[in-house]
Amino acid sequence: MDKIVIDGGRRLSGRVPIAGAKNAALPILIATLLAPGEHRLENVPQLVDVSSMLSLLGRIGCPSLVHDNLVRLDTSRVSFCEAPYDLVRKMRASVLALGPLLARCGEAHVSLPGGCAIGVRPIDQHLKGLERLGCQFELSGGYVHGRVDRLVGARVPLDIPSVTGTENVLMAAVLARGESVIENAAREPEIVDVVRFLRSLGAQIEGEGSATLRVQGVDSLSPSTEGYSILPDRIEAGTYLIAGAITGGDVVVERVKPEDLVPVLQVLRAAGCTLEVGDEHVRVTRDGPICPVDVTTRPHPGFPTDMQAQVMALLSLAPGQSVLTETIFENRFMHVPELSRLGADIRTEGNRAVVNGVEQLHGATVMATDLRASASLVLAGLAAEGRTEVLRLYHLDRGYEQLVEKLAALGAGVARVTDDLERLRSAPVSRVGEVG
Ligand code: EPU
Repeated sequence: MDKIVIDGGRRLSGRVPIAGAKNAALPILIATLLAPGEHRLENVPQLVDVSSMLSLLGRIGCPSLVHDNLVRLDTSRVSFCEAPYDLVRKMRASVLALGPLLARCGEAHVSLPGGCAIGVRPIDQHLKGLERLGCQFELSGGYVHGRVDRLVGARVPLDIPSVTGTENVLMAAVLARGESVIENAAREPEIVDVVRFLRSLGAQIEGEGSATLRVQGVDSLSPSTEGYSILPDRIEAGTYLIAGAITGGDVVVERVKPEDLVPVLQVLRAAGCTLEVGDEHVRVTRDGPICPVDVTTRPHPGFPTDMQAQVMALLSLAPGQSVLTETIFENRFMHVPELSRLGADIRTEGNRAVVNGVEQLHGATVMATDLRASASLVLAGLAAEGRTEVLRLYHLDRGYEQLVEKLAALGAGVARVTDDLERLRSAPVSRVGEVG
């Protein structure tokens, strides 16, 4: 099992380029199905989730070529309208295939994603919304089977502003007959990016970034000849800003959209950091102590749930008490016991985590069950005294491009270690015998 080994206590400084946003790249990749032909996407982050989405597209019949952060995709033909269990189980975002497949083929068979480490995560809003556009669903064999003769525009009030739910309904609505109005739509910057991408294909959408998306359906869409560049990842940027803050360093995140980072910047300021905000960069420094802050996660433009674990690592070193309230997912405190292993003093009470700042964290071996929790352990390890080993890197590989390289370039004592002994142990017995 690979692990990240961190020798903590070094002050990070330097500039770090931020990659394209995972949560914009995933819906945009699958949205290419709506416009048959050759697509060119730039600034696509090199992540396991992106590879999984390209595998899903490959399975559907759409080959791709990847060169660094450029992806070329050919969606001219679709031969298979299914997102099978083996892919959905690896990546929940495969559920985003539902809207585009229904719009493209009139049918879709998508394995139910089930619960995950951060909560139950139902897809009722996706299905209710698509039903309003005329789709019919049947659940059997662990799959949701959807059919539609002709998508027809409608008013779609969502009970919850679900991010991928909004995206699924939107991707179907752009090819529906007539007007659709999605109410209580998610307002996250990634939704805005999906709208801009769809517009580059010829879709007619208004209201991105607000709670009401108004879509005039069109008969067909065509790939943009110029290509499309994915927006910068605000969560990756926020994570590196905290790396600077937690080590009392001086870190500049580059190629970002500072306006998408506002709620995170507010918390960093309240926590005692000094920020310099440019057009496409943010610099963080901290000279004084970290100050305690109460933080509540909310849908955008509130504080993002995807930054809650990382900010908790920071506040675990703030003298005094901070209270973090998680309102988006019901089980997103899986990092608390692991942060405690590093010496943090955190108590959970339902959806609140009460953090009593400690003077120092101490290195230990830790592992996490989701992506952002893993990131918080890396951050805590950077500030901890001694050596921290973070196991189960699978999650980090899903969401952070070149994490170890970027941290090392900022001066962190960090390395990825491939445990050959473990590899040998898990190899077939004959091979172990040969080597031994
Ligand atoms: N919900 C429902 N019914 C639905 C859909 C959602 O009850 O049909 C609930 C969820 O259970 C959750 C809340 O609504 O309690 C919000 O979930 P949402 O649907 O907005 O989340 P998502 O679309 O599944 C995306 C991101 C997540 C991010 C959340 C919230 C992608 C691929 N994933 O998930 O990203 O945490 O929005 O902002 O866009 C991550 O990157 O680490 C990550 C988990």
